Amino acid sequence: MCGIVGYIGEKQAQPILLSCLEKLEYRGYDSCGVAVAADGIKVFKDATRVKALGKSLPKFGGTSGIGHTRWATHGAPSQVNAHPHLDCSGKIAVVHNGVVRNYQKLKEQLISEGHNFVSDTDTEVIPHLIEKHYSGNLEEATEIALNEIEGSYAIIVLAAAGNELVIARKDSPLVVALGDRENFIASDVPAILDYTDRVIYLEDGDIGVVSQNGVRIKRNGIEARCEEHKVLWSMEDAQKSGYEHFMIKEIHEQPGVIRNTLGEFTRDSEGSVDLLEMKERALESMLLVSCGTSYYASLIGKFIFEELLNISARAEIASEFNYHNHILPGTTAIAITQSGETADTLKAMKKLKETGCRVIAITNVVGSSVSRIANQTIYTRAGPEISVAATKSFMAQLMVLYWLAMSYSKAETRKLASLLMEMRQLPSKVQQVLDDEAKIIDYAKSLAKYENAFFIGRGINMAVALEGALKLKEISYLHAEGFAAGEIKHGPFALLGSNTPVIAIASQDNTYEAMLTSIKEIKARGAPVIAVAEEGDEDIVEVADSVISVPKVDTLFSPVVNIVALQLLAYYTARERGCSIDFPRNLAKSVTVE
Ligand code: AGP
Repeated sequence: MCGIVGYIGEKQAQPILLSCLEKLEYRGYDSCGVAVAADGIKVFKDATRVKALGKSLPKFGGTSGIGHTRWATHGAPSQVNAHPHLDCSGKIAVVHNGVVRNYQKLKEQLISEGHNFVSDTDTEVIPHLIEKHYSGNLEEATEIALNEIEGSYAIIVLAAAGNELVIARKDSPLVVALGDRENFIASDVPAILDYTDRVIYLEDGDIGVVSQNGVRIKRNGIEARCEEHKVLWSMEDAQKSGYEHFMIKEIHEQPGVIRNTLGEFTRDSEGSVDLLEMKERALESMLLVSCGTSYYASLIGKFIFEELLNISARAEIASEFNYHNHILPGTTAIAITQSGETADTLKAMKKLKETGCRVIAITNVVGSSVSRIANQTIYTRAGPEISVAATKSFMAQLMVLYWLAMSYSKAETRKLASLLMEMRQLPSKVQQVLDDEAKIIDYAKSLAKYENAFFIGRGINMAVALEGALKLKEISYLHAEGFAAGEIKHGPFALLGSNTPVIAIASQDNTYEAMLTSIKEIKARGAPVIAVAEEGDEDIVEVADSVISVPKVDTLFSPVVNIVALQLLAYYTARERGCSIDFPRNLAKSVTVE
């Protein structure tokens, strides 16, 4: 939550900070601000989006500065609570991503010592603490201040002299990006893609100084030689490239995402599946932990593992798992998180490691916190996902889960080879769903008029129903609930009527007949039904009001084509309702609070 940026170089800092901040708005967007060292420190901030701030912002000169885009935790979104925050003298400015847990105590102490506070935020104690300890060395004062802080932080400190930026991180992400006689600091890589592809990923506990010509990082009290990494994402990856929203661009990128993942993990020849070093270990039981969309990927993963590996697999919501303790000895855990920063998932991983489990992380963000906790990290190849609603990252997670299950599977080679062949056709099958967009747009136009919708699925597609409902509610604000189809008659039926459309996923597997029955029962209660069904399915046309046809695939892969149809349905419904699709209200892309 919250995005922070810093710039120090030869160019005017202000426009660079604004352009970097815009790329970080997926981390939070209820207010924003910048501070530039220009004849003292000039701060400009408001409860608005970055573009609007840029329009109202007076032009400050100055070649170093910091910026922030906020997802409020302490104090409402307002001008006074927006970052950067200043000390009493106005000579030290700080942007912060994280939570200062002991801020109340520190604040009382600082007030008793004469410090004057203006905001309700936890962050404001940081510039005051630095001011208190400052005696000519900004890095030293910051280090002493941070020693008094309990909680998480990624911070950038700017002093009026403007010749250096002090940075530090603990449990919140931070990267330093290296340019030519200029350097950048950001919460995440998309912020700096326009300027450079050379980055250093900071580690927990790092503190450092960034100047125009250099970066000095202290790790465990001694100067560290930090490895420089080349970013593989390109500038275009983080742009809309002619699409109206990032979400629709990202939905359309999915055939490429599947291809990239397959290219990464499977060999072309002989239809064999490439193996990981972890194949060496026997898998006895499997536990998948995650949140939100990643949890729905886990539910599908559970199904795939049980089917292909014949082992018992559990999928747990990380925030629930953190409050109960039953872990079977010998369990292999998989943590799934596109951002790699979700607080609940990180907490679950720590708990699993403490109990001796081996933890494999699946994430889309290189250098994110999960990789520091996991025994092994598998990176998905989705490219940067900017829209808050996860689409292509979910697809990439599914691909990794298929590949993992097939790597471990003891199923006969012929069966695996045939699954692999099917997998190779998935990009064109998904493309087929995308090419049929026009029909889905029509259905979305009628769905947009309702205020409630149900999604139902069975078997492997129960999770797709849950994910379809989540997509619709988070971007269109239409109240949507996903159910196992068999459950709907155990209560939710009470809500059915002509104003409650039901989206039913009817795949051609052993659940199909039961799904037809569910649809008939729903129709008998007067609710309109949109079915997502295999092309050529004539029975479904008889029972449902409308049908979204998807290409025929093996049941195991049916979530892949079905979810693309539901993503499009959610997107066009939200568009019809005029919603802020990429940045839905109250949400943020990475949820770094419990
Ligand atoms: C997805 O559309 C949501 N915005 C959200 O549920 C998300 O999947 C969840 O917060 C988990 O995020 P993660 O994958 O980064 O851990």
